Amino acid sequence: MSPRHTSSEWNQRYLDGNLPWDSGKVDPHLTAIIEQLALPDQSAVLEIGCGTGTNALWLAQRGYRVTAIDVAEKAIAMTRDKVKAYGGPDVTFDTADILDGLTGNYDFAFDRGCFHSVTDDERPIFAANLAAALKPGAWWLSLCGSADEQRAKGETGPPQLTAAHIAATVEPHFAIHQLDRIRFRPDGPTHMAWLCLSRKRG
Ligand SMILES: C[S@@+](CC[C@H](N)C(=O)[O-])C[C@H]1O[C@@H](n2cnc3c(N)ncnc32)[C@H](O)[C@@H]1O
Repeated sequence: MSPRHTSSEWNQRYLDGNLPWDSGKVDPHLTAIIEQLALPDQSAVLEIGCGTGTNALWLAQRGYRVTAIDVAEKAIAMTRDKVKAYGGPDVTFDTADILDGLTGNYDFAFDRGCFHSVTDDERPIFAANLAAALKPGAWWLSLCGSADEQRAKGETGPPQLTAAHIAATVEPHFAIHQLDRIRFRPDGPTHMAWLCLSRKRG
């Protein structure tokens, strides 16, 4: 297991523009799940590890009350600029580490590549902290790298989680409703991933 990036290492990646995960496009899995869930307008939505903010902006444009957090200050600055450039729909921004705990009462949470970015030992803390900031029955959509992707020696890619690890980490707080084998970018060469849609217990 590779060690987790520190917040300054994440920040440096944004300063360097070293962002292989950043498609600049709204994630099609997110749009499909939002369609499926049909959350009411003004639902409170949290994006964890929002990166440059493409998905947070889209969620705000859909009429949700969006909070976007990222541990990298530069990512939050880029999200802020992107939202402003599109006329500034209301988004709350915060440079924050989910492992430090979160307050809130959200209806829906989304992460693309953040849950997989912390270590195996930290993932239960991530799930517990997220659960504490969600309403009972709230949804969490997580997109994370899959251990089923075969890689050649030396080949790099996103962290790789097994379905068993995801279930063990998520299920104490959430009921899994969907666990699908997907590709991060359905429109081109890309990495294998898991789509995990779960619902907070209680
Ligand atoms: C692989 S990137 C994905 C960024 C964005 N979701 C996207 O798809 O373009 C992971 C993001 O999670 C952020 N991150 C990593 N660990 C975090 C933590 N503990 N709390 C909050 N954000 C974190 C990183 O700074 C980075 O922006």
